[in-house]
Amino acid sequence: METSKKFIVLALIMLGFGLLFGILGTFQYVLPGFLKTVFSFEKTRPLHVSSVVFWIILAAAGVVQNYLNECFKKGMKYPILTKIQYWMFLSAIPLILISYILGIFGGREYWEFHPVLALPIIIGWIAFLIYFFASVRELTKQPVYVWMWLTGIVFFLFTFLESYLWLIPYFRNNIIGDMTVQWKSYGAMVGSWNMLIYGSSIYLMDKISEDKKNSSSITAFLIYFLGLFNLMFNWGHHIYSLPTAPYIRYISYGVSMTELLLLGRMIYYWKSTLSTAKKYRHEVPYKFLLAADIWIFIMLAQAIIMSIPAFNLYTHGTHITVAHSMGTTIGINSMLLMAFVYDILGKNQLTKSRLFKIGYIMVNASLIVFWLSLMTAGILRGFWQMDHSQNAFSQMMSILAPFFISFSLSGIALAIGFYLLFRHLYLIRSKKNYIIL
Ligand code: HEM
Repeated sequence: METSKKFIVLALIMLGFGLLFGILGTFQYVLPGFLKTVFSFEKTRPLHVSSVVFWIILAAAGVVQNYLNECFKKGMKYPILTKIQYWMFLSAIPLILISYILGIFGGREYWEFHPVLALPIIIGWIAFLIYFFASVRELTKQPVYVWMWLTGIVFFLFTFLESYLWLIPYFRNNIIGDMTVQWKSYGAMVGSWNMLIYGSSIYLMDKISEDKKNSSSITAFLIYFLGLFNLMFNWGHHIYSLPTAPYIRYISYGVSMTELLLLGRMIYYWKSTLSTAKKYRHEVPYKFLLAADIWIFIMLAQAIIMSIPAFNLYTHGTHITVAHSMGTTIGINSMLLMAFVYDILGKNQLTKSRLFKIGYIMVNASLIVFWLSLMTAGILRGFWQMDHSQNAFSQMMSILAPFFISFSLSGIALAIGFYLLFRHLYLIRSKKNYIIL
C-alpha cells in the first residue's frame, strides 16, 4: 500500500480510538466519578483530544501527499522521506497514548504528553517540508491549492515549535507573555491545518467538476490571502480575558470581522452551490463537501458572535468553547477529510449504499443535537458565571444535567455513524460492498 494511504488508514484508526475515548468522557460528564480510580477524566480528555487531533493531522498529511502525487506527474521526490515521516508518527503516537494511560504527562493543554515525544513529530514534519518543496520544484504559476498546502506545512511547523517556547525560562517566567504565546500558537496551528484541508478541498472540487479555472482565479488568491491574514492575526480572540494592551483586542476583533467577507461570499454563492449539487449529488465526496459547506456557515456565525469581546466574556471557559472546537473539527475538518478519504480509498463510490446513507445521516443529524446540547449548557453556565447572586455550583450542574445526557446520547449516535462509514469503506476496499447495497 502507498505511504499516503497508510497515513489515511492510521488516521482512521486514530479517529476510531478518539470516538471511544469521547464516549467515555461523556459518561464521566453524566456520572461524575465514573471509573475515576483507573481512568479519570484527566486521562480520558487528553486521550480523546490527542487521538482526534492526530486523525486530522495524519489524514491531512496523507491526503496532501496523495494529491501531490496526482498533480505532479513526474511523481514525488525523495519517497524515502514520506516513509520517515510515517514511521516518526507511528512510533510517537502509541507512546503518547500509553503515557496518558499510565498517567505520565508533562506537556500543556492539547499536547499534554512529555515534550520529548514532540521530537519525532518535528522530525517527521521537517521531512514533509523537504519532500513537498522538492516535489513542487518551482512555485510560479502554481494553482492556489499548492500555495495553501505550502503555507499549511510551513506554519504548522512554526506554530508547533512556538507552542513549546514555554520550555525556555525567558518565556515561562512571564505568565501573561507565556499564556499569550501559548494561545497564539494554538490559534494559528488550527489555521495551518485548515490551509492543508481547504487547499485539498479546492483541489477536489476542481477534480470533481473537471474545471481548473477556479483554483487559478484572482478571487481564489484573494481568499487565500484573507485566510493567511486570519491565520496570522485571528488568534487574538483567544486572549480577550488576559490583561494585555487594549489595542490587541481591537485589532483582533477587526481581523475576526474580515471573516464576514468570507461569510458574505459564501452566502452569495450558496444558490449556485445548490444548483451544482444536483449534478453531482450521487457522488460520496460531494455529499461530504456539501455537509461541510453547511457547517462552515453555522460555525462562522458562531465564531463571529464569540469574537465580540462583550460576548466573549460570557462564553470564555464554558461549553460554548467546546461546542465551537468540536463543531469545527467535526463539522468542517472531519467532513472535508471524509470527502478526501472517500475520493482516495472509496473507488468512486456512489451514494446509493444503504450503509453509507444511514452512516452519513446519523453523523450529521446527531452532530446537530450534540452541538446544540453543548451550546445550551454553555449559555446557561455563562449566565451563572455572570450572575452576582451566584447559586451553588451543584445547583447549576443539576440544571445542566439533561443537556449532558443529550450530549452523551447524541455523541454515541455520532460515533456509531462514523463506525458505519468505516464499515462501508472497509467493504468497498474488500470489494464486498455490492452484497450490502
Ligand atoms: C470527529 C470526531 C470528534 C472530534 C474531531 C472531536 C474534537 C474534540 C476537541 C478538539 C475537543 C477539545 C475541546 C476544547 O478543549 O475546547 C474535544 C473535547 C471533548 N470531546 Fe470531542 N471530538 C469528536 C467526537 C466526540 C464524540 C463522538 C464525543 C462523545 C461521544 C466527544 C466527547 C468529547 C468530550 C467529553 C470532550 C471534553 C470536553 C471538556 O473538556 O469538557 N467528542 N473533542
